[in-house]
Amino acid sequence: MAFPNQSATVYNDTVVRQFAIMTVVWGVVGMLVGVIIAAQLAWPELNLGIPWLTYGRLRPLHTNAVIFAFGGCALFATVYYVVQRTCHVRLFSDKLAAFTFWGWQLVILSAAITLPLGYTTGKEYAELEWPIDILITLIWVAYAVVFFGTVGTRKVKHIYVANWFFGAFILAVAILHLVNSAEMPAGPMKSYSAYAGVQDAMVQWWYGHNAVGFFLTAAFLGMMYYFIPKQAGRPVYSYRLSIVHFWALIFTYMWAGPHHLHYTALPDWTQSVGMVFSLILLAPSWGGMINGVMTLSGAWHKLRDDPILRFLIVSLSFYGMSTFEGPMMSIKTVNALSHYTDWTVGHVHSGALGWVGLVSMGSMYYLIPRLFGQKQMYSVKAIEVHFWTATIGIVIYIAAMWIAGVMQGLMWRAINADGTLTYTFVESVKATYPFYVLRLLGGLLYLSGMVIMLWNTLKTVTAGRAVSVNVPPVAAHA
Ligand code: HEM
Ligand code: HEM
Repeated sequence: MAFPNQSATVYNDTVVRQFAIMTVVWGVVGMLVGVIIAAQLAWPELNLGIPWLTYGRLRPLHTNAVIFAFGGCALFATVYYVVQRTCHVRLFSDKLAAFTFWGWQLVILSAAITLPLGYTTGKEYAELEWPIDILITLIWVAYAVVFFGTVGTRKVKHIYVANWFFGAFILAVAILHLVNSAEMPAGPMKSYSAYAGVQDAMVQWWYGHNAVGFFLTAAFLGMMYYFIPKQAGRPVYSYRLSIVHFWALIFTYMWAGPHHLHYTALPDWTQSVGMVFSLILLAPSWGGMINGVMTLSGAWHKLRDDPILRFLIVSLSFYGMSTFEGPMMSIKTVNALSHYTDWTVGHVHSGALGWVGLVSMGSMYYLIPRLFGQKQMYSVKAIEVHFWTATIGIVIYIAAMWIAGVMQGLMWRAINADGTLTYTFVESVKATYPFYVLRLLGGLLYLSGMVIMLWNTLKTVTAGRAVSVNVPPVAAHA
């Protein structure tokens, strides 16, 4: 799509438009793969005997597509939009910004080809092989130059709190990617990790947990700190709290990774450090949630008829829920029950569908009409329908996984008087079957909401035209 508006006096929204559209497209694709693997867990023969469609290959395709393609594009779009508006200056480099767009799409395409072919490092959320890792590094450096270059050339003195979260996300992900992807190439699509044994596991989960902390949390909090006040038409509830929230969150997240390795060969004290920091993490997480929700104080009535605001606020409720559940699951005795069960999958999706998904959708509904010269989305009714299908879908998904998870944990540990196991493993699999079907239903509802969003977006884009927005004169905010 080619749009005008390249003059130096206007914001660069071309790249924002491109990433916003691809957020919706990759959302549909990633969730569709999620639905397919959910169906395969209930009916394994759905892989049709084709190796590329087997569960083991499609599962990483799902996680990469929803986290890095859907979530990643949403973050590129909102970071580029917000940093220009809050710094009153055009993006630092149009060429580098365009490189990040096309480069990121190439990474996604490479993932979509190589993962089904079976090329993988075997490290969760870092499965892509070394040539793609190098491409990711180049794009991320360009992203950092564009973002920090824009902040550095800002026309306002203050750096708005959303940019602090975005900056931390960009820096932390750079460090995590470089350290965890250190590997020795052993062929064009094969490598060996630079680490071995339990050190490899610890580096992997330092990466994995902070991918949650910085990619799936800090960055989306930056989104929340811009779009909730904008949509509600009110300032952030407590700016002071947002600063405390920022420093407490980024300091604490870095130490919590070992909660993924309870009862493993990892030294016990390291597991305890992970558990303690996870419990501490409850405070900054809830501080952020309260700050976001209370931004609405005095304007609660807006929730009644503004579906976009509802997306944003309900996303925070799921954020609060998953950040309460996470610390509880990090307690060793609780983890002894929850680990390896579908409880973890339920926790993941209350964060992923409820928090990451809903906050991204709300922000896109705010952005898309503005980017295409429309007052609002083509159909506000469709946003409403999307909100309810998504919310009901999430509740069905996570309730099914909680029940299945606790049931599995209890069945696996049940012991007869003579010390033998009460249930065989396959009995627990059989008992889980109805919950897998229910989860599929929840996933289908969530996906259908996303398809409605795609339709609404296409209608809005084709009805509108790209608009250019002038950078405000310096005097206006002096
Ligand atoms: C239609 C919506 C979705 C469906 C039906 C779905 C389904 C699934 C299924 C069946 C699994 C595998 C679970 C297992 O191995 O037992 C999974 C894993 C996962 N999904 Fe989704 N998903 C959806 C949306 C999302 C979204 C939007 C995100 C992130 C933003 C996400 C993030 C993940 C992650 C991180 C995992 C790995 C969980 C783990 O290792 O414990 N999913 N999903
Ligand atoms: C205070 C915040 C949080 C804490 C302390 C926390 C803690 C935990 C714990 C203890 C586990 C289970 C580890 C295991 O038994 O294997 C887990 C898994 C996970 N959590 Fe959280 N969680 C938090 C918030 C979130 C949020 C907001 C999201 C998503 C947006 C999320 C995504 C995940 C994912 C993807 C996994 C599965 C990792 C895997 O095994 O593949 N968490 N978390």
